[in-house]
Amino acid sequence: MPLHTQVDESSQDEGLEVNPVYVRELSCEIPRYRLPAHGVLPRTALQVVRDELILDGNARLNLATFVTTWMEPEAEQLMAECAAKNMIDKDEYPQTAELERRCVNILSSLWHAPAGGQAAGCSTTGSSEACMLGGMALLWRWRARRTAAGLDAARPNLVMGSNVQVCWEKFCRYWQVEPRYVPMVPDRLHLRGAEAAAQCDENTIGVVAIMGSTMDGSYEPVLEISQALDRLHADQGHDVPVHVDGASGGFVAPFLQPDLEWDFRVPRVASINASGHKYGLVYPGVGWILWRAPDALPDDLVFRVNYLGGEMPTFALNFSRPGAQVAAQYYNFVRLGHEGYRHVQQTCQDIALHLSGEIAKIGPFELLTEGRDLPVFAFKLRDEVTGYSVFDLSERLRMRGWQVPAYTFPADLTEMAVIRIVVRNGFSMDLAGLLLEDLRRQVQILEHHPQTQPPPDIQQQRQSFKH
Ligand SMILES: Cc1ncc(COP(=O)(O)O)c(C=O)c1O
Repeated sequence: MPLHTQVDESSQDEGLEVNPVYVRELSCEIPRYRLPAHGVLPRTALQVVRDELILDGNARLNLATFVTTWMEPEAEQLMAECAAKNMIDKDEYPQTAELERRCVNILSSLWHAPAGGQAAGCSTTGSSEACMLGGMALLWRWRARRTAAGLDAARPNLVMGSNVQVCWEKFCRYWQVEPRYVPMVPDRLHLRGAEAAAQCDENTIGVVAIMGSTMDGSYEPVLEISQALDRLHADQGHDVPVHVDGASGGFVAPFLQPDLEWDFRVPRVASINASGHKYGLVYPGVGWILWRAPDALPDDLVFRVNYLGGEMPTFALNFSRPGAQVAAQYYNFVRLGHEGYRHVQQTCQDIALHLSGEIAKIGPFELLTEGRDLPVFAFKLRDEVTGYSVFDLSERLRMRGWQVPAYTFPADLTEMAVIRIVVRNGFSMDLAGLLLEDLRRQVQILEHHPQTQPPPDIQQQRQSFKH
């Protein structure tokens, strides 16, 4: 969320323009930044707010986001019916709590939690909160181990690739954990086992492995990372757990790469998060986190709330939170089943592979990924292409409504500027065809009309796309 600042005094009372059709109402004074003295009729309010939103991009053409932008009408209806339910009110809405429990169980079997029913988990507002909870559990466990052994517990660190999503940077800053980033290099765009293990020491609370990378959609090799940490354990005695950030892949790999060992089949994986609102196919915001076993989730992080005369353990940063998304997650599980999810994700992947293949044929582009892990791929301009940049291309596509972000990679690879395309449910092969046509046309135009460098402030703005 951007932090908003107060507008200056002179703008506070600036009025909103109301369509003359509605001005027969007694009062139509709607100051922009102050609470109006009087209300208006519902239709007037609806029209005013809708008009304000006209300039927002079309969510279906937003190829920048991983987050669900289309759900079927029945799911929307269910969400509207559940809009008033507060997830935290377990007494008042015990069945919503039951649906959450079912979702946790469904995910624990999708992610191969060990038999015996020991895995524990919960819903969250999204992966950011889930990652925060996962990181806290790692930190608490490490601190308890160190304190019990009479060792210094003042300098925890977390090892991850520099391609991690910003939520991990936040976790480190908020909890005063040293982030140890393994840099990206041109032929290694995500974390690998040897590099992860090399950064670990006695103060490492855990390693984050991403399924898949926000930068280019590639999966980090969880098994390889875990095996490198096994060797580290054997050689140096540091027993470092892995948290898998499966924000997107947690809902993709079980369906598209069922044999890939990235989840609780890998013994070192202590916890996994995923966003229900990404490839879980629910509108924002719902996320999930699961711990392999109760000992991976320190008891003093868990709060117990009274629940139908009993006690309900909870672990969350928020208190109140919408229940509709959890109901919608369960709806999707029932509606699609395993085969339905597989079909949706496979269709996205077929489209991603088609698009990346055709983009490679246009000429000036070099693919960094093709969409074989997540249905997400990134490409850049070949080094010999001059006269325009991926930012120019991104801006030209925006003229047609496509939101296709161009951005530079993180520290150590900041000179590499790429475009990333996230294929999600609702982005059809037909739309992909239209995008390709536009892409080819814009490349032609740019090749015939080389661009001048924009002034530095515009350049800065162009490169500020945040993951
Ligand atoms: C790998 C990864 N982790 C965490 C997040 C944060 O997820 P959310 O938007 O659900 O908070 C993202 C978002 O794109 C992501 O790609």
